[in-house]
Amino acid sequence: MFSSRIIPAILAIASLLATVQAHTVITYPGWRGDNLITNDTFPYGMQWMYPCGGMRTTTNRTLWPTTGGAIALQPGWFQGHATAFFYINLGFGTDGPDQGPPNMSFPMVPVFQIVGPSKNPYPGTFCLPQVPLPANTTVNVGDNATIQVVEVAIHGASLFSCVDITFAAPETVAAQMEVNASNCFNSSDLSFNSVYSIAGATNAAPSISPSLLPIALSGLLMWALM
Ligand SMILES: *[C@@H]1O[C@H](CO)[C@@H](O)[C@H](O)[C@H]1NC(C)=O
Ligand SMILES: *[C@@H]1O[C@H](CO)[C@@H](O)[C@H](O)[C@H]1NC(C)=O
Ligand SMILES: *[C@@H]1O[C@H](CO)[C@@H](O)[C@H](O)[C@H]1NC(C)=O
Ligand SMILES: *[C@@H]1O[C@H](CO)[C@@H](O)[C@H](O)[C@H]1NC(C)=O
Ligand SMILES: *[C@@H]1O[C@H](CO)[C@@H](O)[C@H](O)[C@H]1NC(C)=O
Ligand SMILES: *[C@@H]1O[C@H](CO)[C@@H](O)[C@H](O)[C@H]1NC(C)=O
Ligand SMILES: *[C@@H]1O[C@H](CO)[C@@H](O)[C@H](O)[C@H]1NC(C)=O
Repeated sequence: MFSSRIIPAILAIASLLATVQAHTVITYPGWRGDNLITNDTFPYGMQWMYPCGGMRTTTNRTLWPTTGGAIALQPGWFQGHATAFFYINLGFGTDGPDQGPPNMSFPMVPVFQIVGPSKNPYPGTFCLPQVPLPANTTVNVGDNATIQVVEVAIHGASLFSCVDITFAAPETVAAQMEVNASNCFNSSDLSFNSVYSIAGATNAAPSISPSLLPIALSGLLMWALM
């Protein structure tokens, strides 16, 4: 039997562990709400739930510029996230499930990789100051949308977090919430890699003919320099 003094101590440790296992927090322009929760409904943790980490569509939307704007994230303290891939997508409107977008199929940036200081928990922040609208899309002031951030863990499972937005003129957004070095910065303990594929042979090891070797080598060099 636990004594009444031990139970509060266990609860305190449990809530501390929940904090330490934090995943992705969208620090700017905000998030649907705290989904850093593991309980009986979400035994593996809320953030693993597609599309928005177990959070329903919200009505306390934040303004975000019609010309694209800043997105700042804390990728989290989760053990084993020495590296992670990130996707940032947009879903348009409110005609889909749960009065959210029909889908989250509009990428805003190419996938990129973050490199953290170690596989142990770490508290860094990074910010992309000018995330554009998805390619070939335009929006109007007053349109609703949802920004989805996906963090793919090293073992391939994905953590989701979203923020519901209403598009507004850039000056309106700036007047509401200035983007500056206090809410949009890169911690020195995080770095970034671009991610892209190299076309290869369909089977067996790719063979490189001598005439193509300089091209292949310069490709490798570019890769090393990225
Ligand atoms: C919306 O409200 C929830 C619940 O109070 C809060 O956690 C969240 O940060 C709010 N989101 C925005 C974008 O203000
Ligand atoms: C787990 O947390 C979520 C989010 O707060 C909540 O909706 C759900 O009811 C909780 N489940 C249990 C069993 O407490
Ligand atoms: C956008 O969302 C807000 C809050 O959920 C809602 O009041 C408003 O009617 C929506 N606008 C449109 C054009 O759907
Ligand atoms: C995704 O939603 C958009 C509307 O926002 C729609 O035009 C498009 O057809 C949808 N894509 C798929 C694959 O359903
Ligand atoms: C955007 O439009 C251009 C020109 O029509 C097209 O080449 C490109 O594939 C489109 N991009 C996407 C993501 O649809
Ligand atoms: C940055 O903007 C916020 C409001 O979004 C403001 O509270 C803060 O003082 C500003 N910081 C600096 C250094 O200007
Ligand atoms: C953070 O680093 C990324 C990747 O190098 C860069 O695109 C972004 O502009 C940086 N953010 C700030 C606030 O300098």
